[in-house]
Amino acid sequence: MKTRITALFGIQHPIIQGGMHYVGLAELAAAVSNAGGLGIITALTQKTPALLAREIARCRELTDKPFGVNLTFLPSLSVPPYAEYIAAIKEGGVRIVETAGRNPDKYMPILKAAGIKVIHKCTSVRHALKAEQIGCDAVSVDGFECGGHPGEDDLPNMILLPRAAEELKIPFVASGGMADARSLVAALALGAEGINMGTRFVATKEAPVHENVKQAIVAASELDTRLVMRALRNTERVLNNAGVERLIEIEREKGQDLQFADIQEQVAGVYPKVMVEGKLDAGAWSCGMVAGLINDIPTVKELIDRIMADAEALIGGRLTGYLGEA
Ligand SMILES: Cc1cc2nc3c(=O)[nH]c(=O)nc-3n(C[C@H](O)[C@H](O)[C@H](O)COP(=O)(O)O)c2cc1C
Repeated sequence: MKTRITALFGIQHPIIQGGMHYVGLAELAAAVSNAGGLGIITALTQKTPALLAREIARCRELTDKPFGVNLTFLPSLSVPPYAEYIAAIKEGGVRIVETAGRNPDKYMPILKAAGIKVIHKCTSVRHALKAEQIGCDAVSVDGFECGGHPGEDDLPNMILLPRAAEELKIPFVASGGMADARSLVAALALGAEGINMGTRFVATKEAPVHENVKQAIVAASELDTRLVMRALRNTERVLNNAGVERLIEIEREKGQDLQFADIQEQVAGVYPKVMVEGKLDAGAWSCGMVAGLINDIPTVKELIDRIMADAEALIGGRLTGYLGEA
C-alpha cells in the first residue's frame, strides 16, 4: 500500500507506533520498523540525552530500517533539556521526530536544519493547521478515543478525521482507536493516509513491558477506560484500576479547585511501577478505548502482516462487492 505517509518516511506499510512512555524502547521500535511500519522511541523515558543516544544506538543495532523518536511537551514539574535531546537525535542519525503536547514551534529551526521530518501529534484541526503552518511534514490526528491525552475538545475520529481532511494540505495519519484492518480502511476512507497505534502495540510480544500490562489490556473492554485530570485541562485517558478510582474520588472532592499536588501520588512516577514491576493499581497509566478490540498478544510482525492482509481483503472483497455489477 502506497500513501504519502509511506513515501514521506520511506516505510512499507502506513502504520506508525506512537511514542509511549516506558513502552517505546528500542525493542518495540525496532520490531515495528523491521515489520515495515515506523517504530518510535520515546525520548523522555530516557532520563538524560546521553541515555537517549544509547537507546538510539541500541535500536540501530536491531534494525536497519527507518525509525523515529518521540518528543513530548507536557506540563511537568521540571522542564527537560529538549535542545539536548534533539542534539542526541540528530547525532544518532535519526531523521524522523514525532512531537506531541505543545507544538514544536520553538524547535522547528533546529529540527529542519538537521534534515529531520516532523510529524506532530495533535487532537484538533486548529492545532493540525498550526503544525502545517510552522513547517511540520505530517500530522497524527488523535481522536477522543485515544489512549493518553485526547485534549479538551472531545471529538471522536469519525468527525475529526474528515474535518482534518477538509482543511489540511500535508498528509496525516489517524490515531486513537486503531487496532486492525477495519480501522486502517476506515481511516483511509475518512481521508487519513495511514494509522498511528499506541495501545494495540503494548499488547504485543516485543513490547518491553510487564506481562500483567498486556494481560490487562486483553482483559479490558471498551468500557474500562476513564478520563482523569480534566479540571487541570490535562485530560488523560487511562485504564481503570484501584489507583485511578482513588484519583477520581479526590477529583470529585476537590472539583474545580483541584491542584496537581492533590493527585501527585496517583499520577507521578507511576510508569516504572506499572510497566516494569507490573503493579497495575499503582495509579494512572494511559490506555485507549481500543482495548475492547484487543484480544491477543501477537508478535509485531504477525499484527502488521494481519492488518495489511485483512485490509487488502476488505477493500478488494467486501467493499468492492458492494459496488455490484458494472
Ligand atoms: C501506555 C501509553 C503511554 C503513552 N505515552 C505517550 C507519550 O509519552 N507521548 C506521547 O506523545 N504519546 C503517548 N501515548 C499516546 C500514543 O502515542 C498514541 O497517540 C495513542 O495511544 C493512540 O491511541 P490508541 O491507544 O487508541 O492507539 C501513550 C499511549 C499509551 C497507551
